[in-house]
Parts: sequence; structure tokens; C-alpha cells
Amino acid sequence: MNSAKELMKRPEVCSDELIKFIDDSMNGFRKYKILTTAVKLQLFEYTKDPVSSEELAAKMGCNPEMVPLLCDVLCECGLLVLNGEKYSNTGLTNTYLVSDSPFSQLNYLRDMERSIAMWEKLDEIITNGPVIVDKQSFFGDGIIHSMAENAKCGMLQEVVETVTEDIDFDSSRKMIDLGGGHGLYSIALTGQNENLKAFVFDLPQVTEHTKKYAEKYGTDQVDVIPGNFFTDDIGSEYDIVFSSLNPGGKVPDLIPKIVSALKTGGVFVNRQVPGEDANAMEALNWNMWTFDDTKKSSALYSFENSVSLEEYIDILKTNGFDVFKELDLTDGSRIIFSRKV
Ligand SMILES: C[S@@+](CC[C@H](N)C(=O)[O-])C[C@H]1O[C@@H](n2cnc3c(N)ncnc32)[C@H](O)[C@@H]1O
Repeated sequence: MNSAKELMKRPEVCSDELIKFIDDSMNGFRKYKILTTAVKLQLFEYTKDPVSSEELAAKMGCNPEMVPLLCDVLCECGLLVLNGEKYSNTGLTNTYLVSDSPFSQLNYLRDMERSIAMWEKLDEIITNGPVIVDKQSFFGDGIIHSMAENAKCGMLQEVVETVTEDIDFDSSRKMIDLGGGHGLYSIALTGQNENLKAFVFDLPQVTEHTKKYAEKYGTDQVDVIPGNFFTDDIGSEYDIVFSSLNPGGKVPDLIPKIVSALKTGGVFVNRQVPGEDANAMEALNWNMWTFDDTKKSSALYSFENSVSLEEYIDILKTNGFDVFKELDLTDGSRIIFSRKV
């Protein structure tokens, strides 16, 4: 029975850790909503030049009392600055959160909303198992655009510099970019060698987008080959087979196809995330959904037909490749260079 005296009894286990966990979760959610709301209401488009909260509210068609409250939080988050009575974007915001910046991350943010929608169904997923995702629309309509945006923030430059330094790049004439998606790696690489022709091999729905990226960057050195690399021919006589973060990059069954696609002396450049030391949250996130055809395996960034990166590298060595360089990149991915001997 409850008694007034019992109220003075402290719990044996201190609650601080749990309360902090709950408060941190709520704060993370609030930050997410602050950011996505500002973007949804196009706030950062109106704060490129300093603007008072009244003017801003009028431009946004929003409540003049609520807008400065939102702006003040955005200031605390480092996304706006207040000078006198006027708010304006910080360098971070002008670089990454406005639609006309070449480094805009707005598609990445949109992709995050899809991920949130999936996390909201966590109970259903835990009960019934992973959500099945259609591969063509997953890549074509969503992730390749956010990957393109992410890549431009430094990884694209890092990968291209590595590739051009570590192989006999200037004499290369023909390359294939397996699962090249947006095609930015091919576009940037051909930009470093006017004699190089690159073919972005990807699913048909995705290559329609690749063509638009090639057009946007004004290149005629990049073409597409629509297909499925697990089942279709990928061509031959390549100087470079380039593969970045695609589901075939740790699949041994694809190695013979890659060997025969390369010229002797040609180089297979494979970038993958090792993924074996993922934390539990990343592992859960990875396992919440799967493709209809290429099923995932539980280790991060691996599929039912793939092996660990270490094993894959060993298999390359016994399949006619000289693995001459392995390099860890700043985002935790690894790039492996192997020459067909
Ligand atoms: C994670 S994205 C990587 C895009 C790009 N290479 C990069 O690193 O930013 C994986 C790409 O592989 C493509 N892909 C997946 N399975 C494929 C298959 N069976 N055949 C061809 N392309 C495939 C996807 O459509 C997508 O463009």
C-alpha cells in the first residue's frame, strides 16, 4: 500500500542517465524539426541578405510572433546570425542549405525525412521484419541525389585526386563506373583527362538521372550503359573499372566479369565501406529494410552474396589481380587498387 512515508524513499538506481537519454532524444528531434521546418518554409532563401523578423514573417507568410522565436533557435544552432535587428545566414547555411548553392544538401535532408518515416515504423519492423524496398526507385528517386550532394563536399575531390595520382591515369582511354549512379565520379575524372571516355553502368531508371547530371556539367565524355551488373554484360577493353559504394563491390561472383572487362594492365578501383565494426544503432538502421532481389546480410553494407572486404581482397589476389594499394579515406571508406596481370 502507498504511504506518505514511502514517498521519502529514493530509488536504488539513479535516474539521471535515463532522464538525460530522454532529454537528449527530445533535443535531437527538436533540432531536426527546427531545421526541416526552416527549409520547408524556405526561411534560408529569404535570409541570404539581412532581414528583420517582421519583414521575414511577411515574406514567408508566417506568424510574426513565432518567426523570431524560430530564428533565435537557428542562431543558437549556428545557422543564422543576428546583427542589430536583422537575421542573416551564416556561411554554413549559405553554402549548404540554400537551393542555388553548388554544395546544397537539400536532397540529403529530404532523404533523411524518408529515413525518419521508416524509423517511425520501427515497432512494425521489429514485429514483422524489414521493409522491402524497390531498388530502382530507392536509388533513382532518392539516394543517388543525396549521395551526389554529399560527394561534392570533399569525398569526390579526395577520390578523384587519389585515382589520378595512383594509377597511370593520363594514358587511360576507357573506363566503366559500375553502379555509378549520379555519375559525378566519372564526370570529374573525365574532367582531368580529355582523352578518357567513361561509361556509367547502372539500373535503367537511374541512368536516366545520370544523363541529366552529365548534361548539367556539360560533358560529352560520359555515356551510360543501363543494366544489372549481376546479370548483364558490362563490356570490355576498359583501362579502368571504377566502383564506388555499390552492392557489387564485395561480391566474389562479379570478379570474373570484372577481370574479363579489363585490358591486361588495366586497373580495378574499388571503394567500399568495410562495415564490420558497426555499432548497434548502425546495424539496426541497416537491417530495417532490404531490397526485393539483392537481399542484405546483417553486417553493415553487405549483401547475401557478399563477403567481408578482407576476404574479397584475398579473392581478388587469387583471380588474376595484383592488389597494389589500399587506402583509408577520411569518411571511413576504403579504396582498393588492383591491376589485372
Ligand atoms: C550507393 S549508390 C553509389 C553511387 C555512386 N557510385 C557513389 O559512390 O556515390 C549504389 C549504386 O549502385 C547501383 N546499383 C545497385 N545494384 C545494381 C545492379 N544490380 N546493377 C547496376 N547498378 C546497381 C544503384 O542504382 C546506385 O546507383
